Amino acid sequence: MNTPSLLILAGDGIGPEVMDEVKRIINWYGDKRDMEFDVTEDLVGGAAYDKHGTPLTDETMAKAQEVDAVLLGAVGGPAYDNLDFSVKPERGLLRLRKEMDLFSNLRPAQCFDALADFSSLKKDIVSGLDIMIVRELTSGSYFGEPRGIFDLPNGEREGINTQRYTTSEIRRVARSAFELARKRSNKVCSMEKANVMESGILWREEVTWVHENEYPDVELSHMYADAGAMQLVRWPKQFDVIVTDNLFGDLLSDMAAMLTGSLGMLPSASLGVPMENGRPKAMYEPVHGSAPDIACEGKANPIACVLSFAMALRYSFNDGAEADRLEAAVEKVLADGARTPDLLGPEDGTPISTKAMGDAILAALDASL
Ligand code: IPM
Ligand code: MG
Repeated sequence: MNTPSLLILAGDGIGPEVMDEVKRIINWYGDKRDMEFDVTEDLVGGAAYDKHGTPLTDETMAKAQEVDAVLLGAVGGPAYDNLDFSVKPERGLLRLRKEMDLFSNLRPAQCFDALADFSSLKKDIVSGLDIMIVRELTSGSYFGEPRGIFDLPNGEREGINTQRYTTSEIRRVARSAFELARKRSNKVCSMEKANVMESGILWREEVTWVHENEYPDVELSHMYADAGAMQLVRWPKQFDVIVTDNLFGDLLSDMAAMLTGSLGMLPSASLGVPMENGRPKAMYEPVHGSAPDIACEGKANPIACVLSFAMALRYSFNDGAEADRLEAAVEKVLADGARTPDLLGPEDGTPISTKAMGDAILAALDASL
């Protein structure tokens, strides 16, 4: 197979700083593990808007379609708050997801032992937590038509978004959740609002269809998404894989992320259908945003972005062993006490910088050889 190709889109805010640490790790794999990657870099979000007047150029979009995996940092920032909706930084990200057809967004929430005390929940509720949220990423209210802000005859305005799902859209994301469950604890909980939304009724029926016809060996349960949110903070360890739609998945994954102590820890993989070379269309990004308030200060936690690269090793490059190595390196530096500011309370000692966290992870990788 050819050298695997990566497109790095570091984006805005803390995106470039956390991605710098990932680039060092990619180089480490080239130097120490003989794993060369063909890396190109480009702009997305506000950074692309500043240069090109659009949050994602057609050229960048075309490149993203060609590579084996896209690594994305973060997009957005206050400088772009007043831009027209069509050119907001987030539109670049949503275009990548939609045009690459990345329908299955994997958001694992894992609580590292060293951080269990730091969660806002009691330690016994989160220690050992390991759940996977599978969020549908290319449809639902993020993309449904009609949408827009319209003038009404009575002088009022009306804002419209449409929650819309088809059979095949639900079935394909359900399949990816069941496949993942089989490699984990074999349980899927599907979340929607079938009590108030027709799209939720269809969701429940189609997930049930896939279960009965293709994955009867996996345990399936259903919850209304609001009850699911409550259960996530009450006793999160009852879950293994959660499958849900685009909007509920956005909310529930932020919540699940925070259970683990910090949004700065959580990676994600967005996967589509296999390309000619058998690898899935794929983009990897931290769940956290661009955090403009701490950008360029060396305060950002690079771990979510680093763990996103570990997911790339696992899901795009089929190298579970090297993904395990990188995850173990992160676990080791946390156990050794390395903490960026997001992982420290006001009286918890001295934080280290983004780069020092990268140094520590690289040292742990060296020690793993
Ligand atoms: C996420 C983010 C995005 C979303 C934003 C930045 C468009 O919150 O990936 O969870 O809403 O999907
Ligand atoms: Mg979100």
